[in-house]
Amino acid sequence: MQKQTILTGIRPTGHLHLGHYFGACQNWIKLQEKFDTYIEIADVQALTDNFNNPEKVRNSVKALAIDLLSIGIDPNKATLFIQSMIPEIAELTVFYSNLVTIARLERNPTVKTEIKQKKELFGESGESITYGFLGYPVSQAADITAFKGKLVPVGEDQLPLLEQCREIVHKFNNIYGKTLIEPEAYLSNSSRIKGLDGNEKMGKSLGNAIFLADDEATIKKKIMGAVTDPEKIKIDDPANPDICMVYYYHKLIGNDNIKTVCSECKAGKRGCVACKKELITKMIEFLKPISEKRKYYEKHPEIVDQILKDGTNKARQVASQTIKEVKQSMKINYFN
Ligand code: TRP
Repeated sequence: MQKQTILTGIRPTGHLHLGHYFGACQNWIKLQEKFDTYIEIADVQALTDNFNNPEKVRNSVKALAIDLLSIGIDPNKATLFIQSMIPEIAELTVFYSNLVTIARLERNPTVKTEIKQKKELFGESGESITYGFLGYPVSQAADITAFKGKLVPVGEDQLPLLEQCREIVHKFNNIYGKTLIEPEAYLSNSSRIKGLDGNEKMGKSLGNAIFLADDEATIKKKIMGAVTDPEKIKIDDPANPDICMVYYYHKLIGNDNIKTVCSECKAGKRGCVACKKELITKMIEFLKPISEKRKYYEKHPEIVDQILKDGTNKARQVASQTIKEVKQSMKINYFN
């Protein structure tokens, strides 16, 4: 039986952190066993926000590929490819842009939040809102439909983009005849991962992330600064682990000593410094296999390049079949 296709994407804007890993990527490692898996390094989408910083996007593409390979994305099971090298995605984006109103894009809750954040940063003038930025949900619909992905493994924040994609597909199929597949979100059960500062979200721009590529000294420094129960002053004060980020990460990385950590903390038998030191050791241990694989790929950039080239070639074949069908439906297939 043919495996179902799933497609997901990630913006190359830096290294992966624990939030990406536990929030999404860990799930992809499982899914690649069961599904025909496509993972897009969404450089075109990253440029919608970073068009004036092309170096950042360029340098992140391979760094991200290495991160993904290091955590266990297997190029024999998953197709890893670069968005800008699939021109069919750009073509589809143009065709789909007729099917979306500007008002609808502005109402997209994800876009709406991002516009609000931009206005806070750049002022009310709205000059920071480019056509490309406002239209990135259209381009994301092109990403998804180019590969006839039925399931799209994403976090909850991406649901409005999926809904927008379904609307585009629906409209396309209504006008031009049934051509595209309506995708569904495949939500991972892992929720958002909290930051070192206790923020509900770990994020690069929030400065509260542990990156998979952090070295030991950086991990130590970050964990020593993590937020703990503010009521605990003295070493033998009892504390509440549920509001402590150190306890949270002990749990997250699966410390098998977790029951002791919890009971000692509650009983005032565990000082925060000792607890942090234990987490540092466990975190380094947890990240070790990933960092060893990273060292291997960093030493062999030609292997990473080949994986990306092969993946992109394969992806392009699929996308070019889709564009053929789309052009036929739209009656712009002139000479065949
Ligand atoms: N918008 C997604 C994010 O910011 C990345 C992405 C690009 C994506 N293309 C995609 C996700 C296609 C799912 C499907 O995380």
